[in-house]
Amino acid sequence: MAILASHTMQDWTPDSWHSRPITHQPEYPDPDALQQATTELGSLPPLVTSWEIESLKSQLAEAAQGKRFLLQGGDCAEQFDDCTPEAITNKLKILLQMSLVLVHGTRRPVIRVGRFGGQYAKPRSSMSETRNGTTFPSYFGDNVNAAAFDGTSRHPDPQRLIKGYERAALTMNFIRSLVGGGFADLHHPEFWNLGFVRHSPRATEYQTMVQRIGESVRFMESLTGISVGDLSRVDFFTSHEGLLLPYESALTRQVPRRKGWYNLSTHYPWIGMRTADIDHAHVEFFRGIRNPLGVKIGPGISKDELPAFIEQLLDVLHPDDEPGRMTLIHRYGAAHAAQHLPALIEAVRATGKTVLFVCDPMHGNTVKTESGIKTRRFEDILGELEQSIDIHAANDSVLGGVHFELTGENVTECTGGARGLSDEDLADSYRSLVDPRLNYEQALEMAILASEKIES
Ligand code: PEP
Ligand code: CO
Repeated sequence: MAILASHTMQDWTPDSWHSRPITHQPEYPDPDALQQATTELGSLPPLVTSWEIESLKSQLAEAAQGKRFLLQGGDCAEQFDDCTPEAITNKLKILLQMSLVLVHGTRRPVIRVGRFGGQYAKPRSSMSETRNGTTFPSYFGDNVNAAAFDGTSRHPDPQRLIKGYERAALTMNFIRSLVGGGFADLHHPEFWNLGFVRHSPRATEYQTMVQRIGESVRFMESLTGISVGDLSRVDFFTSHEGLLLPYESALTRQVPRRKGWYNLSTHYPWIGMRTADIDHAHVEFFRGIRNPLGVKIGPGISKDELPAFIEQLLDVLHPDDEPGRMTLIHRYGAAHAAQHLPALIEAVRATGKTVLFVCDPMHGNTVKTESGIKTRRFEDILGELEQSIDIHAANDSVLGGVHFELTGENVTECTGGARGLSDEDLADSYRSLVDPRLNYEQALEMAILASEKIES
């Protein structure tokens, strides 16, 4: 474990991360062009506001106490070309429907957070990719380069940061309009596409649950006279991995009448598992902003290292134990959760601080099929989630939310689920450029099964 450098707010600026080691950044061939792009970003309006961020923080504080539940989901990597009304509407639709199912199971208000409106940058295991003897930079997400395997596409282009900012703005603008009106029907299960239910051995259970949700919605509406679909403007939040620090720092601002700095590119950034070194640039940058913040925690940190790592991490990122500030997103994998999660819960308890625990059952469960396609098995995803619910309960801790990679489209990227997608079916409609996502039906089924587990 590295020796902890001193961290005081006096020596933090939106650029102080430059003095720390940094990984998973693209190599921009022209530093002046990067500077030009970040200067332009620095002059553009923010994408979110500090009062939305503070409102989310107070809701997350309640989730940490078991009074709310977080549903966070969306693509592994958004693509600029997917900034279409259909793709955005479908993502919002599946998240709203899942949230209604989860309200039912958890009996808690659900905080909805999209992995979108800026999820355009990816950490990659290697800086470059070689195919048939030709090597180009890896694809780092649409904010950096394009996925096609040729020199022009893979060239990291700083102008893409501006385009990513604009696409994020277009996405958020459309989401704000949708949640401000027009979406009421989605709260009525009679309008959902539930064809898959018939294919499940648990068809009757599913139908009963959906029927009960419909009855509760109608009951609430007749009681209050308010349509359950009337969401307030800030009832939907955005998040992305805070990976490209030139982008994140260019959108970090001070706002009138509030102390400190806000990252106004998104409500709720998270630090990925690969960039969470305490003395590195990402932790340095994110310690200085006032947004609620997630950190991914995976099996790479051994049980023995966990107590010191968590203590130092929370010293730096969560020094004041501010309610709602800190989320730990554990992603151990179904095969490792039982071994690691109790130690994580214990390590946090030893600090005396409160964090929101969220389970990401996707990233520890990625496997390759025999033909080399990246996939995830529905039963592994569900298995990690169910184990996590049990482990938190057994350790007198609160699992306050879930984090999924999903899409509202009918893709074939994860296997299993009611329709029993097989490895062979993956070829039908595999569209993710990075990690496999649950499709519409699998995501809804996952919400139903998670709800049942939480309810039991
Ligand atoms: C991700 O969330 O897409 C990701 C890369 O996750 P992790 O940092 O947990 O591997
Ligand atoms: Co991913």
